[in-house]
Amino acid sequence: MRILALETSCDETSAAVLEITDSRFNLLSNVVSSQIKLHQPFGGVVPELAAREHLRNVLPVITEALGDLKPENIDALAVTIGPGLMPALMIGVETAKTLAYAWQKPLYPVNHMEAHVYANWLEHSEKIQFPILGLIISGGHTELVLIKNHGQYKLLGQTLDDAVGECFDKVAKMLKIGYPGGPLIEKTALSGNPQTYKFPRPLLDQPNFDFSFSGLKTSVLYFLQKNFPEVEKISPAELADICASFQAAVSEVLIQKTLRAAKKYKVKQILLAGGVAANKTLRQNFLATIEKEKLVLELIFPELKYCTDNAAMIAMAAYFQTLKKSAPALNKIKVDSQLDIT
Ligand code: KG4
Ligand code: ZN
Repeated sequence: MRILALETSCDETSAAVLEITDSRFNLLSNVVSSQIKLHQPFGGVVPELAAREHLRNVLPVITEALGDLKPENIDALAVTIGPGLMPALMIGVETAKTLAYAWQKPLYPVNHMEAHVYANWLEHSEKIQFPILGLIISGGHTELVLIKNHGQYKLLGQTLDDAVGECFDKVAKMLKIGYPGGPLIEKTALSGNPQTYKFPRPLLDQPNFDFSFSGLKTSVLYFLQKNFPEVEKISPAELADICASFQAAVSEVLIQKTLRAAKKYKVKQILLAGGVAANKTLRQNFLATIEKEKLVLELIFPELKYCTDNAAMIAMAAYFQTLKKSAPALNKIKVDSQLDIT
C-alpha cells in the first residue's frame, strides 16, 4: 500500500509518500518546506504567519511529493491533527480532508508526538522490540514514556514547565545567537569546554522521572546578568564555553533520568524522538554513559532529517493504525492542538 501523509503542525510544511510491501518500508518521497527564515526576525514561530505560509506551500509540496504518482496510486491519506499550533494544524487537516473526499480515500488522523516516536521505524524497524523506553524531546514536549506495544504508552514523567527544545531556543535568544536555538547552540558549543560553568541539573536528585527546564533557563539568565551584562561583547571562546556548559547540564539530566527509568522498567532499548534528538552531542553522551556504566542497552535514534518535523514519520505512524483499524469518518477528524500521547 501507499500512504500520502501531511504535516503542518508548526513551521514546516511537509508531504511524504510511504510505500509498504510485505511489511517492508520504502519511502518514496519526503518533501519538507521550512519556514525558518520567515519566523527568524521574530525569534520564534508566529502562528498566523505559519498558517498563511502553509496555505501557500501545501499544494506545491504535495505535488512534489506525489511526483508521477496519481491519486489512484495512493491507498490512504494521513495528517497530523495535534499537538501543535491551531491555525497551522487546520491547514493540513482541511487539505487532507478535501483530498480524502475528492479522491475517496481513507484518512488517518495522527498524533504528532507519536509520529516522532515512529520516525525510528523508518530505518530501524527490524531491530525495534517492545517494551521500549521512549524519550520524546521537542520544542513543545519532554516526556519519558514506556512503550509497551504499538499505540500502548505509559507516561513515566514529563516536564513540569518548559520543554527542553524551548529551553534551548530561549537560551539562544538570551545569547543572541539566533533562531531556532537548538542547532545553533549545538554548533557554537562544539569548540567549547562543557566543564567551564556548572549550571544546575534540575530535579536530578529527585526519585521521579519528571523534568524542569525553566529554572535552568533562569539560572543562565542570572549568570549572564552577573558575568556578561553586555551579551554582544562575549568573546566567541566564552560563548562556546557557555553553550557547551548549558548543553552539558541539559544532557546530564536527560541521560541520567532516562537511564534510571530504563533500569527500573528493565527495558533493553531506548528510542530518542523529536527535534532535540537531532543533537549529536546528546547522542554521543548517551552512548558514552551507557558504555561507561556497562549497561546492556541499545540506543536507537532517527536519522537527523527525520528527528525534526517531517511527513515521513506521520505516514509511518498511520501505517500502524491501518493494521489495527479502519479510518474514521471525515467529520470525526478534528484538530486537537493539545493532544496527548497517553
Ligand atoms: O520536533 P521539532 O522539530 O518540533 C516540535 O515538535 O516541537 O522540534 C523543534 C525543537 C526546537 O526547539 C529546536 O531548537 C530543537 O528542536 N532542536 C534542537 C536541535 N535541532 C532542533 N535542539 C538541540 N539540538 C539540536 N541539534
Ligand atoms: Zn515535532
